[in-house]
Amino acid sequence: MPGQPVAQTSTSGLPLASERRLSSARSWPTYPKGKDFMAVTINTLREYKQKGEAFSALTSYDATFAQVVSEAGVDVILIGDSLGMVLQGHDSTLPVTMEQIVYHVSCVAKGNHGSLIMADMPFMSYGTVDAALENAAKLMRAGAHMVKLEGTDWMKDTITALSERAVPVCAHLGLTPQFVNKFGGYKVQGRDEKSAEIMIDHACELVAAGADIILLECVPAPLAARIAKAVTAPVIGIGAGSDTDGQILVLHDMLGITTGRKPRFVKNFLAENNSIQEAIAAYAKAVSERKFPAEEHTFKA
Ligand code: KIV
Repeated sequence: MPGQPVAQTSTSGLPLASERRLSSARSWPTYPKGKDFMAVTINTLREYKQKGEAFSALTSYDATFAQVVSEAGVDVILIGDSLGMVLQGHDSTLPVTMEQIVYHVSCVAKGNHGSLIMADMPFMSYGTVDAALENAAKLMRAGAHMVKLEGTDWMKDTITALSERAVPVCAHLGLTPQFVNKFGGYKVQGRDEKSAEIMIDHACELVAAGADIILLECVPAPLAARIAKAVTAPVIGIGAGSDTDGQILVLHDMLGITTGRKPRFVKNFLAENNSIQEAIAAYAKAVSERKFPAEEHTFKA
């Protein structure tokens, strides 16, 4: 049943992901919100980075999963445009519209219990600065705490404009799925030294422009580690090795219910747990203990 506590114990001595949500370490339940309850904010993620503690993120698209994911102690919920593939059955994220993301953000916001809500800006919704401002406002009004954009240095002005107008931004670099037609497929990015250096420069420029978080998808682990060191902002990785500040997966992937080929960076946490709640809590714990991702989930240069 959603909201039921999942019994966990830490073997490493590290606080469990679910315990971080409270000002003093304690076990379940985190519901209802007590006076010690602390929602995750961008400052929480910055503190994790400063302390060298890894944080977890997962996609969710509805209220029930948002409740399960947030109560499992996952720090960030992304309403990803991956919903175009995992919910709608498209072969890319390009058909997803603003209205659809707004709808799913409002569902997630109702079930969320203290995670930071990040909303994807879908394909062409930030093609100009004006469009980005107008569309980001819709997502923030629906309940998002920050927005995510895919691109490189051309996004600097957009990120500055959003940031100056109170919209926190995550800049998504590496394999940016909205660029699938430019990349000619879903391919690991930054494999050679020249493209690696360009990606490091872009990450630094986007943070200087106001990006609060960098998300790296499908880049070699050593490059992700260099970027996480080079920028002050927290760096979240997916298929980017274990040295980023946080990790993210698509919910359906980590529950083993994605159709088609399983990407290298995915681990099915439901396979070794008895329920969806336990699988999600196990993911959050494995990330906080830096046991996930392992070598086998990682790309080399
Ligand atoms: O849309 C999405 O779910 C994403 C993740 C893969 C990071 O962007």
